[in-house]
Amino acid sequence: MYKKNNITLGIETSCDETGIALYDSSHGLIGHKLYSQIDLHKQYGGVVPEIASRSQIEKIPIILKEVLSNHTITLKDIDTVAVTNRPGLPGSLLVGITTAKTIAWIYNKPLIGVDHLEGHIFSSFLENKVPFPHLCLTASGGHTAIYYVEDFGIYKPIAQTRDDAAGEAFDKVAKLMGLGYPGGPIIEKLAQAVHFEDFFSYPRASIDIIDFSFSGLKTAILYDLIKREAFDPSTKTFLKKEDQLFISQVASSCLVAIGDIFIAKLTMAYRLFPNIKAITFVGGCACNRYLRSRIAALSDTLNLSFYFPSPQFCTDNGAMIALVGSYKAEQGKYASYELDINDTV
Ligand code: KG4
Ligand code: ZN
Repeated sequence: MYKKNNITLGIETSCDETGIALYDSSHGLIGHKLYSQIDLHKQYGGVVPEIASRSQIEKIPIILKEVLSNHTITLKDIDTVAVTNRPGLPGSLLVGITTAKTIAWIYNKPLIGVDHLEGHIFSSFLENKVPFPHLCLTASGGHTAIYYVEDFGIYKPIAQTRDDAAGEAFDKVAKLMGLGYPGGPIIEKLAQAVHFEDFFSYPRASIDIIDFSFSGLKTAILYDLIKREAFDPSTKTFLKKEDQLFISQVASSCLVAIGDIFIAKLTMAYRLFPNIKAITFVGGCACNRYLRSRIAALSDTLNLSFYFPSPQFCTDNGAMIALVGSYKAEQGKYASYELDINDTV
């Protein structure tokens, strides 16, 4: 039977981060810790799955111990163990699930499987009380979608990406110009230097359909770079490494194009669900101040409130998994100890 003050341990290892958090059903987030692997993957220009899971297996006991000792909570005091079981890199997901099952089995605690995307969708609730129903735009390196969110755990996809995610587009465009990984924050900084202007009017592919498609944008930018003699396709080399202004103009034009696409899709989604009370923007791309200001302006025009998590909860984290685990415990949505990666939860 669910009791007040249910403490949920949340574990997130779906991609390259290792996140652990404690969530109290009455008081909210108690503590959380994240180990980011960005530095490990930087040199490869993207996440290398085996490096990710090997690092997670090393770091997870350290982070777990830190979170517990910071809050003088023992594993015995925990009521529920929640873990991301889908979607993600199989090796990474297995590290989290094996840890969660071990704790649950030894201390005889119930286990909860959490869909990583549900974690992002409800991440705005870590710091705010968001009204239902609302639209949630989630955009990161692995996913870009709009959801109609009716209540805790009740949501449906309205728009999804047909190919690349928005964050992936930032990462790929940054890679084209040899700018490093992850591309999103670098592109934002460069675009800011030229005041977020649109210099090259890249095509806003599939602007009239509600689903997203970003691979066309990346290809259009590549062809435009070739046309401007800034990229040699035979050697795959960016030729204007010294031209800071040009690099900033490409970055800014790319960011504005993605901003326009977000606004167009959200406007379409709003027309389908004019009863919504708010818009939320979550996932790694929600760290972007320009994109947030565009969506804030749209929300203002539509007379809606607008919410986004602070940057530490936009990117992958254990706190959002603990929060979802907490309300799923309240709803009695437990998993069996046979929980596997990619099981529907
Ligand atoms: O949520 P997240 O940490 O991991 C995934 O689930 O993918 O998101 C990482 C993605 C990367 O593609 C990164 O380029 C993007 O979020 N990102 C940004 C910004 N910060 C991170 N995109 C745009 N602007 C940013 N400031
Ligand atoms: Zn994510």
